[in-house]
Amino acid sequence: MAQKVIVITGASDGIGRAAARKLAADGHRVVIVGRSPQKTQALADELGVEHHLVDFADFGSVRALAAELAARHPRIDVLANNAGGVFGKERELTRDGHEMTFQVNYLAPFLLTQLLMPTLIDSRATVINTSSLANRLFARFDLDDLESEYGYRPVRAYGNAKLAQILFTKELERRHGDDGVTSTAFHPGAIATNFSADSGSGMAGLYRWRLRDLVLASPEKGARSLVFLAEGTPGRDYPTGRYYTNSKPARASRRADDVELARALWDRSVAMLEVAPSGR
Ligand SMILES: NC(=O)c1ccc[n+]([C@@H]2O[C@H](COP(=O)([O-])OP(=O)(O)OC[C@H]3O[C@@H](n4cnc5c(N)ncnc54)[C@H](OP(=O)(O)O)[C@@H]3O)[C@@H](O)[C@H]2O)c1
Repeated sequence: MAQKVIVITGASDGIGRAAARKLAADGHRVVIVGRSPQKTQALADELGVEHHLVDFADFGSVRALAAELAARHPRIDVLANNAGGVFGKERELTRDGHEMTFQVNYLAPFLLTQLLMPTLIDSRATVINTSSLANRLFARFDLDDLESEYGYRPVRAYGNAKLAQILFTKELERRHGDDGVTSTAFHPGAIATNFSADSGSGMAGLYRWRLRDLVLASPEKGARSLVFLAEGTPGRDYPTGRYYTNSKPARASRRADDVELARALWDRSVAMLEVAPSGR
């Protein structure tokens, strides 16, 4: 298998950490990105790989990460936007003034991807977004209320952000497919990690439960789709621009197929972030 340069966010724990271990064991050059300095350093030492720190609740930190990655890596074959979770029993704002779950799961990875676009185009890279079944179960997507100002609920904000990621996945291909960039989103399954444990949401109890390992799958199993998509050749081994579960294309929310919605979300996101628009 050809060695790839694979950048994984949210690699300090859970699904991202399990994926980083497997991809490093398979001989790829894995670049891990985490938020916790201790956990990220521990994994970097274990695997002997390069690491970076970022806080997605702070765009300044995302911009610094993008600059570091672009300077160190003229080639990035895979960008795995995996960091995320459910945050805030009450609606919480980031230091940039955006609703926390929306920014951490969607806006920050969108920004990172935009900032890395020249490298991703030069590398004919693939962008993998860790989404969630929550896009179908909980989303009530409203382009005019992306920040959940009305009727905030943690799982709804999460479902909306994970649907936004799928819309982003599809629009990224539409805008940059001709540049050789591909993109895929996936749901990892219900996985025994720290995910949502501090969110105070309805899901928190399950993920904090002492016996959670009896009903939730292992992080290694949760990493399987990410590893499959990262190691395969997009377009040849699997169709891209889609949403996957268990390494197979799956049904997302019907709204994920709304081409105009995807286009409008992209334009809104660019305006919110004040980045130069990329693609057509
Ligand atoms: N577990 C599930 O059942 C499940 C189901 C569907 C989708 N997902 C998705 O899978 C992805 C990975 O979650 P997981 O289950 O592996 O949870 P996890 O064990 O809690 O890991 C989350 C990762 O995201 C990082 N992260 C969280 N907030 C961040 C921030 N503000 N800035 C930068 N990094 C941040 C964490 O960094 P630190 O640990 O360093 O703070 C950690 O590496 C998420 O996108 C989640 O939404 C999980």
